[in-house]
Amino acid sequence: MQDLLDSALARITAAGTAAELEAVRVEVLGRKGVLAQLSKDMGKLSADERAARGKFINTAKQSLEGAYEELKSKFEAEALAKRLDSEWLDLTVPAPGARPGSLHPITQIQWEIEDLFRSLGFSVLDGPEVETEHHNFDALNIPPDHPARDMQDTFWLEGHHLLRTHTSPVQVRGMEKLGPPLRMIAPGRVFRNESVDASHEHTFYQLEGMMIDRNVSAGNLIYFMKTLLTAIFKREVTVRLRPGFFPFVEPGFELDIRCLICGGDGCPVCKQSGWVELLPCGLVNPHVLRMSGIDPNEWGGFAFGLGLTRLVMMRYAIDDIRWLQSGDLRFLRQF
Ligand code: DAH
Repeated sequence: MQDLLDSALARITAAGTAAELEAVRVEVLGRKGVLAQLSKDMGKLSADERAARGKFINTAKQSLEGAYEELKSKFEAEALAKRLDSEWLDLTVPAPGARPGSLHPITQIQWEIEDLFRSLGFSVLDGPEVETEHHNFDALNIPPDHPARDMQDTFWLEGHHLLRTHTSPVQVRGMEKLGPPLRMIAPGRVFRNESVDASHEHTFYQLEGMMIDRNVSAGNLIYFMKTLLTAIFKREVTVRLRPGFFPFVEPGFELDIRCLICGGDGCPVCKQSGWVELLPCGLVNPHVLRMSGIDPNEWGGFAFGLGLTRLVMMRYAIDDIRWLQSGDLRFLRQF
């Protein structure tokens, strides 16, 4: 019996690795191990023998398990030391820190233009995105059967309401609420039911402007438009003025700028034409003034509707309008 125990002990202490030790544990201390064998024929022994055998088994168990535990802790300590040697922390590395957000490029340009116009004595007005047919169309001299309605594919809502197709209804609200003389701009989101591509979105941003006073001329209009474009682009931009038709202005103009993305050679944003429509404008149609209760014999005005989204695309050479609403951080982090 003592031999059996000695050889079992020797096998345990001979284990050179944790894996070997585990294999020996199964053989020696497991259900078919040495201790199990020693207890197998206990039933055939006399009471005295049984007591002696029991005592022997207990001591054997203690010394085998003791040897096993000791070696096991030794292997574990070695493994830990090895891991600590290969892993290390540099406590002097700066923490990653929070990444501060930034304003969307449309907001940035909008705020810049608001500052500019405030310095010229204009108020910044806000209007609802859900508009009445009256403010979006009728009061702007666009009656129900007018072809200009078809040009602005409209999201209609119930009860003669709609998602505003332009910021021009805020002109009407400004005239109604504040009356003449009036200097106002109205930035905001507008909606059109069109198919989306590199230069069209169903949701985009405009900035409306209107000035009503005595003796307002096309010269005033052109002065303000030039001031605006120089401030925005901070450099000379090539512009051209074409006649343009909008029912709420007379005469109406289209102010185009040479495409800053391709320099005029043609690209998807300028639809290969080299020019981008940026600033439709004109002198306020007397009929529009009259509908909002302003006497056109005493007052005149100009109005413009700046495409804010397109402006951002020009300024930052963004060649696909869809980036702006994508929420893509790779895009947004550049601003
Ligand atoms: N509201 C027009 C549009 O979205 C743009 C526009 C044209 C606005 C001429 C104006 C203007 O104020 O005078 O198509």
